[in-house]
Amino acid sequence: MTEVKEDTKAEPESPSRGQNEATNKIVELIRMRRSIRHMTGERIPDDDLELILDAARYAPSPENMQQWRFLVIREDEKMKRLIADISQEAARYVFGNFPYEATQGRLWYMPDTSRPGTYEEMRDGSLFRYPEKADAVIVCCASETWHDSTAMYPNELCGSVVVGMGVLNMWLVAHSMGYACAYQAVPFADKRHVEYICEKLGIPRTWTPLAAFCIGIPEKPRMLGPSRFPLESSFYEERWGIPYVRKALRKSSKDK
Ligand SMILES: Cc1cc2nc3c(=O)[nH]c(=O)nc-3n(C[C@H](O)[C@H](O)[C@H](O)COP(=O)(O)O)c2cc1C
Repeated sequence: MTEVKEDTKAEPESPSRGQNEATNKIVELIRMRRSIRHMTGERIPDDDLELILDAARYAPSPENMQQWRFLVIREDEKMKRLIADISQEAARYVFGNFPYEATQGRLWYMPDTSRPGTYEEMRDGSLFRYPEKADAVIVCCASETWHDSTAMYPNELCGSVVVGMGVLNMWLVAHSMGYACAYQAVPFADKRHVEYICEKLGIPRTWTPLAAFCIGIPEKPRMLGPSRFPLESSFYEERWGIPYVRKALRKSSKDK
């Protein structure tokens, strides 16, 4: 592992320009990362967990203010179960009222053989109990009061972006080591649940919990995917509504 020196005056070596071996590795990591919700309950070696947590610190943040706090719950199994109970209850409320046929194509990316079963697990909320089987349940919090100017982005934009960037760093490092990760937002969807959890964990009102990010040992490997929309459907070129066309699909530069 390369030692990263912080706060030194020495110029860092810049990576070589253009695609290279490191690019291939990171692109593959990004493409293969999945939400893995079935965990065994076993522990991750402490060193590995610390390396994962440390990756969050290197995420960017406005003015480098690092307005995130990550509360790592590892030993308190009762608390993990409580978060699992709340997650299941919240998910049951969100998903439980609609028969599969009435949803707007939810789980469209799954094979026919597993889609109805997974949807049932969403409806009864059991799919969301995974915090109880995670080694580390990390309650990720954003700050509402980090800046002295009143003309700053609202927290729900800025705070979420900052926390999200930190989480993705941890996720990629954990994934590179074969661990399971999943981002559990449902226990924080209802203000009453937020208040209850904050009180139990001692989270002050100036911090907003956004998610319980769970890391553990995967029960089984996951299929590839879910597939993503193609570049053309999420990227526009020069003006809104003009689909970005992949290089492979361009006949000539005039086709732009
Ligand atoms: C902001 C956000 C909220 C999410 N909320 C939940 C959640 O509450 N529970 C859950 O199990 N997964 C949650 N996810 C994970 C997504 O369901 C998942 O990333 C998506 O289906 C794509 O699957 P993949 O992560 O395997 O690529 C969330 C992801 C994000 C970024």
